[in-house]
Amino acid sequence: MAFSIHILPSSDAIAALVLLGLGSFTKGLLSPLRTVPGPFLARFTRLWEIHAVRSRDFATYNIALHKKYGSIVRLAPNRYSLNDADAGKWILGHKTGLDKSNFYYPFGFVDTPNLFSETSNATHAKLRRPIAQVYSTTNLLHYEPFVDTCTAILIKRLDEYAREGKQLPVRELMQYYAFDVIGAITTGSRFGLLEENGDKSGIIEALDEGLDYSAIVGLIPVVHWWISKVVDLLGIKLSFIRMIDFINLHLNNRVSGRSKSPLGCQDFVDKMLQSEQDGKATRTHTFIACAQNIAAGSDTTAISLSSVIAHLCIYPEAMTKLRQELDEARKDGRLSDPATFQEAQKLPYLQAVIYEALRVHPAVGVPLTRVVGKAGAHLAGQYFPPGTEVGVNAWVIHNNEHIFGPDASQFRPERWLSEDSAERAALERNFLSFGIGPRTCIGKNISLLEMLKVIPQIVMGFDFELQRDERSGERYTWRTSFFTKQSFCCLVRKRSR
Ligand code: HEM
Repeated sequence: MAFSIHILPSSDAIAALVLLGLGSFTKGLLSPLRTVPGPFLARFTRLWEIHAVRSRDFATYNIALHKKYGSIVRLAPNRYSLNDADAGKWILGHKTGLDKSNFYYPFGFVDTPNLFSETSNATHAKLRRPIAQVYSTTNLLHYEPFVDTCTAILIKRLDEYAREGKQLPVRELMQYYAFDVIGAITTGSRFGLLEENGDKSGIIEALDEGLDYSAIVGLIPVVHWWISKVVDLLGIKLSFIRMIDFINLHLNNRVSGRSKSPLGCQDFVDKMLQSEQDGKATRTHTFIACAQNIAAGSDTTAISLSSVIAHLCIYPEAMTKLRQELDEARKDGRLSDPATFQEAQKLPYLQAVIYEALRVHPAVGVPLTRVVGKAGAHLAGQYFPPGTEVGVNAWVIHNNEHIFGPDASQFRPERWLSEDSAERAALERNFLSFGIGPRTCIGKNISLLEMLKVIPQIVMGFDFELQRDERSGERYTWRTSFFTKQSFCCLVRKRSR
């Protein structure tokens, strides 16, 4: 009997619930955002957005929502997605300087946020300053030999696929490549995924699990603290601990002098240890920077490389133009084998192909969200009160025909080569694949270094033919959790000239 008394809600509890419900109903009625359209359930609960993200197709879904409801859409009671030419600049840009929303909180440890997960811009600036130099363009050149070593192994793998006539799962191989490159640049050591042509240690899966968790828990961030405490209390070993072990091993070996950077050039750890000696960074900065390189720099680059290969298959005229540029440059002695970063930077069509591949398939598939500050904000003709979460999804903006033209959904690298500088500036202002503003991607130049160097080697050496999936009949598909990871196969042949 005593048991049932405990579980039956008391009249006080019922009254409190009714008041709470009435409170949020009245708040909704009085809100200046009450007329903003969106899915019916999103007006009352975050569960609608959680369900939408769990459906694994949020990128396309977000585009469809804007087609149906217009430039502002409600995603949850206090979260809105915007589709407007100035939305990226306003929400993410330097001028407004809005803090990140709590969506990012579960992307880091509860007590030690990283650059990506820290929500306050002021605290973030203190974290970013000591490490920014290590990502600078001058430092990039030291990383080239690490990229070349991995590219040589990648080419061997492609040779094998070509010889054996086996279907190549492109994104998976690109992921092995991107993980090995970022491991090598960061710690001097590859993960060894390219050599084993697989992921026996499960590091990719571990990262996937972490991102699946963050993409959902980010929508109810308050539970992250509780989950983390329970995990600690029960001593549960999370799968991404493997990545932490990898970093700790290499960091400790370097600090104790048991290892030094291979290939006679400084890797990222060397540069961070130097910053520590100069009093610019601490060991915590070094550790976090290494972890965020691997977590943020592997999947993203793999998705972008895969997009380049797929779109060059789907649009063979772009492949022909790219090869023309590369072949001529090689013939004229302007492109070494392997390509150097500086040479590749001087090839406009190659750069346009990369930007276009990132535009039509951004690596992040959900909105980048920020919180409106104390003064409130007028965006896309709508007033947003303080505390509202507003976001822009690169998939939505990049598909906006008012910004990118009636062929926004098509892969057309030429758009980046327009003679009209105002037109090009408008494209660049709305290019959100790396984010913009104070929280823009710190690893952008590292990923461009990788892509600019490896694409000439792949494209000049091999022909690719997209294969149809037997079950779905599709040639190129993807699923969104936080990232939009593709699934597609190609037949590879040594290039016929
Ligand atoms: C094509 C490859 C890449 C893409 C598409 C990409 C995309 C992005 C995006 C969209 C953001 C901003 C997120 C936001 O505003 O919420 C970001 C931030 C970040 N990225 Fe990347 N990224 C790439 C490669 C890399 C690489 C190679 C690294 C590391 C070596 C890296 C490290 C980071 C870090 C640390 C942040 C947080 C920066 C901050 O808040 O200061 N990314 N990236």
